[in-house]
Amino acid sequence: MLKVGVLISGRGSNLASLIAACAAPGFPAQIVCVISNKADAKGLDHAHNANIPTHVISHSAYADKESFDAAIDAKMNEYDVQLICLAGFMRILSGWFAERWRDRLINIHPSLLPAFPGLHVHEAVLKYGAKLTGCTIHFVRAEMDHGPIILQAAVPVLADDTADTLAARVLQAEHKAYPVALRMVAENRVNVFEERVFVTDAAASGDALFNPQIS
Ligand code: GRF
Repeated sequence: MLKVGVLISGRGSNLASLIAACAAPGFPAQIVCVISNKADAKGLDHAHNANIPTHVISHSAYADKESFDAAIDAKMNEYDVQLICLAGFMRILSGWFAERWRDRLINIHPSLLPAFPGLHVHEAVLKYGAKLTGCTIHFVRAEMDHGPIILQAAVPVLADDTADTLAARVLQAEHKAYPVALRMVAENRVNVFEERVFVTDAAASGDALFNPQIS
């Protein structure tokens, strides 16, 4: 059983999808702790309901980013965490943290990286007029929203989308994708070679997704 620590800052719907996946019989990972940098993060309720230990490590309680990150690192080690999942964690972790947890720290981002990193992703996608967007689960490197990609899901952008409707469609894909990526990592099927991920025993659909659809 891979021991997983999850870092959140808010709503925690991805956390909820990971908790649900881990509850399934035979799932190869177990969430051993959830840490939020915000005491009022709604996502903490999902952990409480599942009897998962939670900790609030507030960034504002620390003099600098280094000591905040060190507190997270120490807490993860207390629980013998083997993999950290970022799930809507809104702080940028230090380079040394990303290095210490290299290939043991994954993130979900609501776009097809490297397109549209950062915040206000769906607004940026709509403004640009991209016809396909999606989500990405990737290993974390020091540079924000960057690192070897484990899994991506493509989602069409509809003509009448608002940032909210697009976010909701992408979120559905996120909730399917993150547990699958976690399973693949926990099954030791994910290997990083020269900063690219190779997944063993993984099939890919050869079909293209068109938007607008072609006949
Ligand atoms: C998700 O869209 C995730 O991709 C991004 O932040 C959002 C978090 O949502 N990193 P939630 O807290 O998991 O509901």
